[in-house]
Amino acid sequence: MTLSGKHILLGISGGIAAYKASDLTRRLRDAGAEVRVVMTEGATHFITPLTLQALSGHPVRVSLWDEEHEAAMGHIELARWADAILIAPASADLMARLAAGMANDLLTTLCLACEAPMFLAPAMNRVMWAHPATRANAATLQERGATLLGPGAGSQACGETGEGRMLEPLDLVEHLHKHFSIGPLAGKKVVITAGPTREAIDPVRYISNRSSGRMGYALAEAARNAGAEVVLVSGPTALPAPAGVQRIDVESALAMREAVMQALPCDLFIGTAAVADYRAAVIAPGKIKKASDTLAIELVKNPDILAEVAARPDRPFTVGFAAETDHLLDHARDKLVRKHLDMIAANRVGEGLAFDQPDNALTVLWRDGIKELPQADKRVLARQLIELIADRVHDHA
Ligand code: CTP
Repeated sequence: MTLSGKHILLGISGGIAAYKASDLTRRLRDAGAEVRVVMTEGATHFITPLTLQALSGHPVRVSLWDEEHEAAMGHIELARWADAILIAPASADLMARLAAGMANDLLTTLCLACEAPMFLAPAMNRVMWAHPATRANAATLQERGATLLGPGAGSQACGETGEGRMLEPLDLVEHLHKHFSIGPLAGKKVVITAGPTREAIDPVRYISNRSSGRMGYALAEAARNAGAEVVLVSGPTALPAPAGVQRIDVESALAMREAVMQALPCDLFIGTAAVADYRAAVIAPGKIKKASDTLAIELVKNPDILAEVAARPDRPFTVGFAAETDHLLDHARDKLVRKHLDMIAANRVGEGLAFDQPDNALTVLWRDGIKELPQADKRVLARQLIELIADRVHDHA
């Protein structure tokens, strides 16, 4: 069972079952997850933040008004970071506040600001759980997409016996594992290119571009979260490889092409790399000296990796990117048809747009459809794009 590299935001609310959160934190980490803990003020009366800080390996957050923590990883960043929110225990009060859409402490604010799936492990006295108010809140939260894990039945801390016990930590980890392993891309192999390429001119110089690789890395992470086996063929970037993703580092377009062909066949190919269109016809064996006032370097065209993948007889579902400064839709549609793609994600580039930026906006086109994904953090966009792709990849012969 693995949650390798998954970012789990563990919310702990005030209830006696909060003591089980320490074991839960350990179990989540044993399964490979990265855990960040947020507690309600009530929870701190049952278990100390220090215990959970030691077990999670990260500072625990309680208050929305903590300047030091907000300066390190702000609550919105934390909301974006999460691949899933698990609230264990979820008290009657917390569920009521979530159902009402309140944001009167850090945990409820995070839940409102987070687009990742939410799992609630209710724990309370059996009469509180059976109360129509609690049942109505649970139903509301489920209608909005939250998953309720438990509660189980048995003896309760209050001395009564009945329904309202929090599920055991291992059961909760198992539920999360199932969620990630039956994702929409489970069992699929995905190959993604990312970052810029570097085309050598001589041993110390190269031609390259401003691509940061962020979009491709975010897609690799989102595809992994959707259950796929992911190979990321990456040009030089400063980004860490998402855990559980196989990264192959390359420099030039020719090396990227070679690595991609080695990684095939696959079910889905996404070309996000800003592959240099041209390379030097000849790479000077020694450093070029500034002997003359002008210098001409002859360039030759690089192979189009995306088009080559799409032209194969065993072609995967093929998705390209189009970065354009003008006539966005016309150019993107032209690329979709010309390169025989199944889908293309187009974005506007230019001063302060897209390249090297954490945010982006995409217009996604396929043969008989179009969808706008408005300006958002690239990780959020990646999740949305993977959902769009997953809806179609299964129909691909
Ligand atoms: N691509 C590729 N191999 C190349 C060039 C581009 O795989 N040698 C992929 C990119 O990863 C991206 C898409 O093709 O998915 C971009 O298309 P492209 O036509 O190269 O875009 P531009 O270079 O912007 O095209 P043009 O200059 O012709 O408008």
